[in-house]
Amino acid sequence: MIDLVRALGSPGGLADPYPLYHEMRREAPVFWVPYDQYDGGRFIITRYDLADAVLKDSRIWKDASRMGYQEGTVFGKSMLFQDPPDHTRLRGLVNRGFTPAMVAQLAPRVREIVDFLLDDVIAVGPADFMTAFAMPLPVIVIAEILGVPAEDRAQFREWSRVLIAGTDVLTASSETESRSMEATMQLASYFDGLIRERRRHPGVDLVSTLAALEEADGDRLSHEELLGMCVLLLVAGHETTMNLLGNGLFALVARPDEMGRLRRDKTLIEPAVEEMLRYDAPVQQGTFRYAGEAVELAGVRMEPGQTVAVMLGAANRDPEQFPDPDRFDVARRPNRHLSFGRGIHVCLGAPVARLEGRMAWTRILERTSSIELDGTPIRRPNSIFRGFDALPVRFS
Ligand code: HEM
Repeated sequence: MIDLVRALGSPGGLADPYPLYHEMRREAPVFWVPYDQYDGGRFIITRYDLADAVLKDSRIWKDASRMGYQEGTVFGKSMLFQDPPDHTRLRGLVNRGFTPAMVAQLAPRVREIVDFLLDDVIAVGPADFMTAFAMPLPVIVIAEILGVPAEDRAQFREWSRVLIAGTDVLTASSETESRSMEATMQLASYFDGLIRERRRHPGVDLVSTLAALEEADGDRLSHEELLGMCVLLLVAGHETTMNLLGNGLFALVARPDEMGRLRRDKTLIEPAVEEMLRYDAPVQQGTFRYAGEAVELAGVRMEPGQTVAVMLGAANRDPEQFPDPDRFDVARRPNRHLSFGRGIHVCLGAPVARLEGRMAWTRILERTSSIELDGTPIRRPNSIFRGFDALPVRFS
């Protein structure tokens, strides 16, 4: 079993982890891997029903400091790593700025950005889809939501990339990890400055809204929590969506029949984006959770304090939940994939990510008659954030 887990970080596993997931799920849907430089091991969950149960189980916690594990950076103070009641409080606060009305208002602007980026991809001829489209689209969108000035985008994109590179224990070196910590601190200090600025000159952006909440209600939102929230929104808001766009394009260009179905029937764009999310999940593994008390799962007993990793990418290919799970089907329904997580930590930005995915495909299909690969795609060496570093394409 441990070999199967290690293989996920090997070149073959990074190229295609799904056969490994199937093997793990068949051998033992819940199993203990006794290795880890941090906490001595972890349970790996690969079955859909068990993944769903763990994500919804209030006995399984997120906050590592409750387990006596070392406190990390401000990122660790963000709601992603908190349990109720702190999680409930933080999510309630961000919900005041992150409303359905805010998301609905974004649609025309997202369309404009999509078109602006596509102008180049189409005019230039062969292009790297990642650098020309998949990366900038979500970066511009989240930057505008947060109110990060356009001239700072390239810098925070770089910090975010370095932060993410250090998240994967299977592939990151200790140097990559320490650079990742440093980038997190740089991001926090960047937001510290931006928050001060927005207090003096508030705008209509989310950082202004949150900064005003901290000021008015300091005992409900501490400064560290506010910084953690900004870093979380920034990182969660684009590293993932970028891979939805890249992985989705890769799945489609490899299947001309599915591409053709989508071109003929645009009502399939909505289910197609869900299928892109399921088939090659941008986040392959949920963040670590810890058994807060003894929990029994599929006959396996987890002791208090033990770590649990939910393999979302594996659950999404569970044949018990998805008929013919390795088939990419743009019309798949129902499609209750786990790519946005589930339970109280379910992705806050899912409506934004879906809007970007649907708008991108609507305009790509309207503005092109063919899309082809134009070189060899380069996979990113990260077993958690699954995506491409480069995806050379030709749009015509
Ligand atoms: C395709 C794109 C996206 C994917 C696949 C994705 C995936 C996820 C997943 C799996 C989680 C739960 C992690 C866990 O429970 O361990 C999550 C949480 C979160 N996501 Fe996303 N996400 C995406 C886009 C976004 C966007 C665009 C934003 C912000 C605008 C965002 C903000 C967040 C936040 C704030 C959380 C933490 C929620 C909480 O702890 O209550 N995400 N996301």
